Amino acid sequence: MGGGTLSVGGVSAGELAEKYGTPLYVTDLDRVQERYSSAARALASRHGRCLLAFAYKSNSTPEVVESLARLGAGATVVSVAGVELSGAVGVSHENVVFDGPSKSKAELAAAIKGKVGMINAESTQEVLDIDALCGTLGVSGCRVGFRVNFGIAAPTHPGLATGSSTHKFGVPREEVVRFCTEAAPRLKHAMVVGLHSHVGSQVADTEVFRQEAEELVRLADELRKVGTGIGEFNFGGGLGVDYTGSGGALGFEGYADATAGTFSRLGGDRDARLVFELGRSIVADSTVMLTKVNYVKMAGTTPWALVDAGMNDFIRPALYGAYHDIVPARVADSTESGASYDIGGPVCETTDVFGSGRKLGVKLAQGDLLAVLDAGAYGTSMASTYNMRPLPATVLVTKGRHRLARQFRL
Ligand code: LLP
Repeated sequence: MGGGTLSVGGVSAGELAEKYGTPLYVTDLDRVQERYSSAARALASRHGRCLLAFAYKSNSTPEVVESLARLGAGATVVSVAGVELSGAVGVSHENVVFDGPSKSKAELAAAIKGKVGMINAESTQEVLDIDALCGTLGVSGCRVGFRVNFGIAAPTHPGLATGSSTHKFGVPREEVVRFCTEAAPRLKHAMVVGLHSHVGSQVADTEVFRQEAEELVRLADELRKVGTGIGEFNFGGGLGVDYTGSGGALGFEGYADATAGTFSRLGGDRDARLVFELGRSIVADSTVMLTKVNYVKMAGTTPWALVDAGMNDFIRPALYGAYHDIVPARVADSTESGASYDIGGPVCETTDVFGSGRKLGVKLAQGDLLAVLDAGAYGTSMASTYNMRPLPATVLVTKGRHRLARQFRL
């Protein structure tokens, strides 16, 4: 048996696949913690009061969010289950941020009762609804932010851009000013104390984050004049990662400088809390998805490797045409080869493909093990049971040891 080279956190991928089966997500928890710590450090060096509220939607594996909570991470959640999970892993309620463009009354009630640190509203009606619900629930002092739509077009995949003025996200800045002038003083139980902006995901452009910071500071100045004091500035998430190895990622230092750094340089309130909802950049490179080759065959002139993971297990390539490196993890014949493959899954959908024309450096055979890299963000969290397939398992590796993760199920 040749190959068998890939290891995650010091543990052989082949061994893990044998023990736990495939498809299998393998997450290096130490790497998650390392990424979080360098992001938190970069932000803290620019502003005294920062909260990195990890975006649970990017990875909701309980052990992952728990390990982040232990390091002091807050939580950005968008569902009742998210509020519950953040509490269960020990995030204190004031460090929980509740987002979402279309929250139901039940979701708002859960956020209010959970006394989350901030509910970021995406319409003026939502703020009025929160105020009324607080009255019904007997809660006062509920902290509300406005997610503002500044009309910033983020350079990213169109499916990941959220900041343009016609997108469904946020409230136009003029409407925020009008509300704070006319309606905010009449709120009985809720108070507008936050501003929030998230212009998109997988963004690698400093200028966008700098512009966002500038807009937030400027709007807060304007709101102060109409009697609304802003104590929390939320820059959303969105920092891109380098999936292709082209070196195009911004990195935490560049990101921190563009956001918190710009905030400070513009004379933003030193006592304000700055919140960052990073998800992808914290977890993406912590995880690989292992998948076994079921069949190798020719389709016309195209060589295919058909694997046992499908788009239900990992949907990013099918949904966004996202590129993920695929490498051999354990192969029977590791003799160097220039063969290239289209790599597809078992689901009867033409887009159930993880990569096309991939040169893996080896000739593949039935039973070989491949690894799809950088699968830690929006991998397991977007997995589904489509085709009545089971959800993929996740194994956690830390300090050279491995164990099966709890499965997050609703
Ligand atoms: N905050 C808000 C309001 C968001 O909508 C998101 C992501 C984040 C924070 C976290 O963004 P991040 O730092 O992870 O980029 N499924 C897609 C990504 C969708 C992002 C949705 N919102 C993907 O697989 O690329």
